[in-house]
Amino acid sequence: MRPYLKIRNLELKTPLMLASGTWGLGENLDLYLTKEEIKSNIGAFVSKGISRFPKKGNPPPRLYETPCGLINSIGLENPGLEVFKKDYLPKLLSYEVPLIINLHGEEVEDFVALAEGFKEEKVDGIELNISCPNVKKGGLAFSSDPKGVKTLVKEVRKVWERFLAVKLSPVGPVYEIAEICEKEGVDALVVANTYPALGVIGLAPLKVIKGGLSGPAIKPLTLRLVYELAQKVKLPIIGSGGILSGKDALEYLVCGAKAFQIGVANLIDPTSAVKIIQEMEELKKKHGLFG
Ligand SMILES: Cc1cc2nc3c(=O)[nH]c(=O)nc-3n(C[C@H](O)[C@H](O)[C@H](O)COP(=O)(O)O)c2cc1C
Repeated sequence: MRPYLKIRNLELKTPLMLASGTWGLGENLDLYLTKEEIKSNIGAFVSKGISRFPKKGNPPPRLYETPCGLINSIGLENPGLEVFKKDYLPKLLSYEVPLIINLHGEEVEDFVALAEGFKEEKVDGIELNISCPNVKKGGLAFSSDPKGVKTLVKEVRKVWERFLAVKLSPVGPVYEIAEICEKEGVDALVVANTYPALGVIGLAPLKVIKGGLSGPAIKPLTLRLVYELAQKVKLPIIGSGGILSGKDALEYLVCGAKAFQIGVANLIDPTSAVKIIQEMEELKKKHGLFG
């Protein structure tokens, strides 16, 4: 069967990817979906953010529901590169769907070391999470620093020849960074990560949770970014933000995305991937879209 989309070495059977962090490290995917459902509906699995060394993440509360959205403050808890490769990677590879590793670093050297650490593994690609603060720049997020992103992508490209995506933050000089990614040889842009947000957990004394907002609340905001970026850059765009249905997914595709990722949809219903692909295919036929 011809792939739905091929970007460099990455071959997607369907345009649907499971977004970083919303299926953890994939250990439980086969509790909810059969192997056949996984292979025929999921274009690619994106891992939770992996850092060089283990990270404990933030103390609870880590999740806060808002009308139409979810604030998460996980703090990128993960077992670190070596434990991930030894204890989690084999199961993820056994699903036989393309695997993209989401990388989290605090300086350029971390991302380079991570990319090098996956070179000998059978992973299909990496996705750089540039929403993290760059310690060497006093904690300024990579996503606020176009020069920093340029250096980051250049250095990672030197050691990584397979599929390379940058996951943009929706805030900051987004268009400038997208153009830099294009010039520096990135293969695709994931548009976009969560939006900085705050929830009030306690009124008196005041207790708040600060984190990233995802879910239907952000869909119109991210759709606009996708629509406008698709006219500015030639790089394939992978839309991510608030997709809960086949119609949501199709809206991203008609606005210029070549593929899409689902995040909180997985938390609401672990079988969402199958339902979204089915519904999207029916709608495509109904509207005579995409051949
Ligand atoms: C619980 C949770 C954990 C997440 N962890 C990561 C992560 O480790 N790295 C990352 O780049 N994005 C992470 N994200 C962001 C998602 O991958 C996705 O881009 C975002 O939630 C927007 O999509 P959605 O509205 O469909 O959820 C996380 C989101 C949630 C809800």
